[in-house]
Amino acid sequence: MRLLGIETSCDETAAAVVEDGVHLLANVVASQVPLHAPHGGVVPELAARAHLTGLLPVLREALAQAGCRWQDLDGIAVTYGPGLAGALLVGVSVAKALALALELPLVPVNHLEGHLYANWLDAAAPPFPALGLVVSGGHSDLVAIEGHGRHRLLGGTRDDAAGEAFDKAGRILGLGFPGGPAIQRAAALGDPRRYPLPKAWLVDSDDFSFSGLKTALLRQAIALGLYEPDRGSLADETMSQEVADLAAAFQEAVAEVLVGKAVAAARRLGAQAVLLAGGVAANLRLRTLLRERSPVNVYVPPVILCTDNAAMIAAAGFFQLLRMPKAAGLGLDVDPGLRFA
Ligand code: KG4
Ligand code: ZN
Repeated sequence: MRLLGIETSCDETAAAVVEDGVHLLANVVASQVPLHAPHGGVVPELAARAHLTGLLPVLREALAQAGCRWQDLDGIAVTYGPGLAGALLVGVSVAKALALALELPLVPVNHLEGHLYANWLDAAAPPFPALGLVVSGGHSDLVAIEGHGRHRLLGGTRDDAAGEAFDKAGRILGLGFPGGPAIQRAAALGDPRRYPLPKAWLVDSDDFSFSGLKTALLRQAIALGLYEPDRGSLADETMSQEVADLAAAFQEAVAEVLVGKAVAAARRLGAQAVLLAGGVAANLRLRTLLRERSPVNVYVPPVILCTDNAAMIAAAGFFQLLRMPKAAGLGLDVDPGLRFA
């Protein structure tokens, strides 16, 4: 069964074709990063407009890459939330039009569940029960996964999401947007022990908190003359050792907390596997630390499938269609605030 996946929840316009939920036939992602970078973050109206002009070419490219025609498809899976309302609307509208015209089932996919399903693509299927850690620009969720479509949210962030914290830290250190990859590059040249930063463990809770860490980073950057509240980052093009050390300390603090809490939850639940997912799962330090400390096998998608893409949406859509063959109607609406069930 071949599903077309469509993803437009944030700043990537993406389409993919996946066979039987696991074989990747095509994966096309048009990134809007250069569009939003000058603004230091994603501008919702710009994102929606770029999806509008970008989605049809991306769809055509995905079909060409997969070597299939519209009539070879068996279903359309689309992200309907969470995300930016205007951005989601573009993908959902196009998916509805295609489902209607091609007489195919329309499968609405939760973006967060989609991230987890990147772990099923071209890889051995993870065992259940599993512990999922979804860390992206908008979410830091710990989820118990009992089976396909059977999730229980254990905890989430009380303030900033992990990716959001990376992006804010990138701005404080003058490393640009998105902060995650930039912090990782800078951290590779730094010593995480030179300016240690605080970690919020929130005892007896599966929740996270990263805002205190961000404030501590800001204070340290001000103390070192790297940032001024009125002028922003003072770091210049040549990265100083202080910036590298702070980036390393920040990355270490985030990775330690994410891994510590994921490992504790996995042990408590008797999970057979830990599934890492979301844009922040691209972080190499986080991957390494989780692999070192997890009592069970760790599943991590290749970097290209960690950040937003439509292949994970098609994969999630396939397993959903197996469970619930009755597809959504054309009344399907976007749900910007959707969470894990
Ligand atoms: O999942 P994603 O592509 O979009 C959302 O659904 O939010 O995640 C984007 C986030 C951004 O905050 C970005 O800074 C972060 O993932 N990110 C990283 C890395 N690559 C992307 N964070 C840390 N290390 C990375 N290598
Ligand atoms: Zn995402």
